[in-house]
Amino acid sequence: MTTDRWRMGFHIMPPTGWLNDPNGLCQFHGIYHVFHQYSPDWPAPGAPRGWGHATSRDLINWEHHGMAIRPDTPDEAQGSYSGCAVRVGTGADEHLRFYYTGNVKEPGDFDYIHTGRRAAQLLIESPDGFELGEKRVLLRNEDYPANCTLHVRDPKVWVDADGTWWMLLGARDVDDCGMVLVLSSADGIAWTVVREIYPCAPFGFMWECPDRIELDGHVYLSCCPQGMAAFPWASGMRDVAGYFPLPEGADLSTFDQAIPAESFRLWDHGFDFYAPQTFTEEQGRTLLIGWMGMPEAPYESAPDNLSWCHCLTVPRVLTRQADGVIAQAPAPELDGLHEQEEALVANDMNVLSGHRHDLVIEGIDDPFSLTLDDELEIVFEDGSLTLRFTARGAASIGAGRTERSCAVENLSDVRVLVDSSAVEVFANGGRIVFATRWFPCADTCIVRLVGSTPSARAWRMGDGMRGTYA
Ligand code: FRU
Repeated sequence: MTTDRWRMGFHIMPPTGWLNDPNGLCQFHGIYHVFHQYSPDWPAPGAPRGWGHATSRDLINWEHHGMAIRPDTPDEAQGSYSGCAVRVGTGADEHLRFYYTGNVKEPGDFDYIHTGRRAAQLLIESPDGFELGEKRVLLRNEDYPANCTLHVRDPKVWVDADGTWWMLLGARDVDDCGMVLVLSSADGIAWTVVREIYPCAPFGFMWECPDRIELDGHVYLSCCPQGMAAFPWASGMRDVAGYFPLPEGADLSTFDQAIPAESFRLWDHGFDFYAPQTFTEEQGRTLLIGWMGMPEAPYESAPDNLSWCHCLTVPRVLTRQADGVIAQAPAPELDGLHEQEEALVANDMNVLSGHRHDLVIEGIDDPFSLTLDDELEIVFEDGSLTLRFTARGAASIGAGRTERSCAVENLSDVRVLVDSSAVEVFANGGRIVFATRWFPCADTCIVRLVGSTPSARAWRMGDGMRGTYA
């Protein structure tokens, strides 16, 4: 069997090698830039990560430009870790700044938490996202508060309406509590720590990839707490990704209270979602892209012998709902990849051509279930929406995924993006999302749809990624 069958058509993946977190997301003069943690020499052991680079003008046809930021200075010897992009200046002076973390592990007998690690925050300026200027170290461990361990990383930077610069850094403190540092600056170069944001009760030992999201004037703190397996809703996972809505009128630049831990909401209920990053593009939408992988998981991330590992989610458009929940919908540009429509009939067996489809089911009246190849099912039952690998699916290639559920009173619509080896499920207008990898082996996709629904449609999707591995 050729492993090319699992290359995706509308999920960003590396041409070869390893990918994790999305980095430096931005749109600049029409071009979307998606950088990502990248180790092209994977599976060679010990290959440090840098930033890979993909671009697109339409969010569906992508090009991959290989490694953009290399771990080639002493301040990032074990990795040019995650970070963000900021647009600065106006007119001819307009350009981009990339902020990221340099990771260094000193050789020796260290725990790499309290000893033996360096975490510097670096800056690179770029006129266009392609040409990169010199690297500058802006912050080192001695610049962080004394209660921080050596785990301080993943800068997210923004400039407020008054021109003040702000930075969030994810951190682990000496008591093993995850938290966020807030820094401010007049110029984005010289930074001072102004505050530490803690949860009101312990909530993991480390918070990675903090992000600030503003929707309709409401601010959210997104982050990835690690050490969460004891929380019943974490499905036994060590690491999760979610967001805290801030109180009405509050912003992260001035917020000086403890974050109510119980207000945390998972971004995604699936098996493969972590380290999301958001950005506001030129037409003003806020888009989120996540990594469809996990730092630690009790299941296989990919079949053996693939020359690449992991992918990103599709770009998801974020909107704030009246109750503060953030809905996520696939960017409407994806409809541009629709090829021919194929029959999708409820209460019948549908045979679709291959595994690259957009399934849209609306007007759902319970009960509802949708099964793919008798391996993966999406079921609405007993007040829950469940993504479940059948016994056959759980034992198949990339094995070990079982089931994930989310409580929901009613189910109105389900959209399933099936992309060779990535599946994303959006329900109830994107209020509930599940992302999972799935490695089907059949040439056709058999879809069983059970329930009463006035509208079920399926489109075969084109390949917008061919430019990334040609
Ligand atoms: C999250 C993360 C980040 C770090 C990067 C390294 O998955 O651990 O905290 O910057 O990955 O690849």
